[in-house]
Amino acid sequence: MTLNGKSRSKMREYEIVDTNAGNISACSFCGYKAGRSEGHHRKSKWLKERYAEGLKFKVLRSREFGDIGMIEYALGNHAWRPVEAPGYLVIHCLMVNGKHKGKGLGSLLLDSCLRDAKKSKCRGVAVVTSSDSFMAGSDLFIKAGFVSVDSFPPYELLVKKLKKTAPNPRFIVERERLFKRYRKGLTILAADQCPAVPKWVEEIADASRTLGLEPKVVRVGSAKASRELPTPYGMFSILYDGKLIAERPISATRFMNIMRRNAE
Ligand SMILES: CC(C)(COP(=O)(O)OP(=O)(O)OC[C@H]1O[C@@H](n2cnc3c(N)ncnc32)[C@H](O)[C@@H]1OP(=O)(O)O)[C@@H](O)C(=O)NCCC(=O)NCCS
Repeated sequence: MTLNGKSRSKMREYEIVDTNAGNISACSFCGYKAGRSEGHHRKSKWLKERYAEGLKFKVLRSREFGDIGMIEYALGNHAWRPVEAPGYLVIHCLMVNGKHKGKGLGSLLLDSCLRDAKKSKCRGVAVVTSSDSFMAGSDLFIKAGFVSVDSFPPYELLVKKLKKTAPNPRFIVERERLFKRYRKGLTILAADQCPAVPKWVEEIADASRTLGLEPKVVRVGSAKASRELPTPYGMFSILYDGKLIAERPISATRFMNIMRRNAE
């Protein structure tokens, strides 16, 4: 794919920085300033362990505002989402900071991923979207020619194929095995793939202690473990006595309400 006129003029104002082990610690992303939080530190470390697997983490840098967006994608066999997508690139995250939305910057980041997919002769690009918060919605992708190939409400698996006859990717959300493994007590499944995770873990752990519960925090340590998670969200979920009580981040208040209802 070649850059159109609009994209070229944007690239004078913005730069897409391909991060690596040498420059990631100095980049800001997802609202986390370089070097200032446990979330940034953990995510940077996580990325350094992933680059060799072909993972791409690109930061959108504005000449005026600094780092204001990002896109992350992995090869299907190294994807940290419960999807089966061999030969595809799987987008983990796409984000443009609040006041910079609606200017075509999300599309610019997506174009850069599609160009990589074409260059590396992938079957196509897949992405998990959600109508809920904490994940990009499907609109931007549909406009770019993606179609829905699997659904696990509120999540959709979208794909843009570059090889028409390639098999569709699919969700592989397997719940029962984990429900059995964590059948007693409170368990938080947390992946360092998202810099907000340490904050979410701390909030829920603090709230649970007021109920006299000490949560077991299980760090999701590999793409394989991530693909065994009980929800397509894939970064954070909470189990209680072998039941899924949150399949994505929730506030401490919502957590307390769920626990109260559970006890009734
Ligand atoms: C999804 C997301 C990345 C889109 O980013 P964006 O920069 O706003 O995307 P674009 O500007 O390319 O496209 C958005 C809209 O602006 C329109 N647009 C594109 N260029 C435009 C321009 N120059 N001027 C005005 N509008 C434009 C697009 O047509 C699109 O229209 P739509 O709303 O009707 O679909 C952004 O909304 C986001 O970050 N959402 C949160 C995602 C999230 O939670 N991620 C989890 C963290 S990993």
